[in-house]
Amino acid sequence: MGGVEAVYVFTPIAATDAPHAYAFHARSSAVGELVWLRTAGEIESFAKEGSLFGVWLADQLVALSYAAILEEVWEIGGLSVDAGVRHRGIGAVLLRFVLAYTIVSENRLFETPMLTHVHQLNDAPRGLLLDLGFERSGTVAIDPAKAPPNLPRDASGLVIGDTFRFSERGLVQLCGWFESFDGRLQDGALCRFRVGKPLIRDLKQALRDIAACVSRLRN
Ligand SMILES: CC(C)(COP(=O)(O)OP(=O)(O)OC[C@H]1O[C@@H](n2cnc3c(N)ncnc32)[C@H](O)[C@@H]1OP(=O)(O)O)[C@@H](O)C(=O)NCCC(=O)NCCS
Repeated sequence: MGGVEAVYVFTPIAATDAPHAYAFHARSSAVGELVWLRTAGEIESFAKEGSLFGVWLADQLVALSYAAILEEVWEIGGLSVDAGVRHRGIGAVLLRFVLAYTIVSENRLFETPMLTHVHQLNDAPRGLLLDLGFERSGTVAIDPAKAPPNLPRDASGLVIGDTFRFSERGLVQLCGWFESFDGRLQDGALCRFRVGKPLIRDLKQALRDIAACVSRLRN
């Protein structure tokens, strides 16, 4: 008899699962990972707004991210994959899912910048971000009073991060990826996108239209 096939389900997190999501999020920062620690209330708000996304393996949450309007930009944050399932492509697929869902449902004209911040000491997501079409766009120095306690301060007490902005090139690339993705990770594990409304084919069509529009404007 063969083993049970792994199926990763990518989906917005329901408000009822917010405590579970917060526990996952807090665990990541408790083991020293350089994720901006959100409060339980913030995680719950993201879930209620439909801007918290996760990956389930059976009844276990194995990855999380959010996309929220913060200070007039879309902040893609909290990206974290369970250490036991890293380097299989789950982080990349989740990030693409978050971007596609947010662009199609909230930012169709792609007018609001989509940013993510990476702590200066954190190398883990950098290759992934550049691969997906994020571009380094600056550095931020955050007042330690405003930053969560889990993030290291530099010699002058500031929390320093690099800003990455999702590019138009990335958007066109994202559309191409959704067109060609066969629903499997490199190791053969299945990915399912559970989005309710819009359905995944609507998501793909809308993304195609937006990317075609962006391509036309650029050429
Ligand atoms: C950053 C993070 C989310 C990446 O998650 P992941 O699921 O391992 O990401 P992926 O597998 O999609 O890609 C990660 C790397 O694995 C490589 N990879 C992808 N599929 C692979 C496979 N089948 N076999 C081997 N390597 C693979 C990718 O090329 C990528 O390499 P890179 O780091 O040199 O770019 C994860 O390391 C994490 O949770 N880190 C701690 C929290 C954190 O720092 N988050 C970022 C906050 S800004």
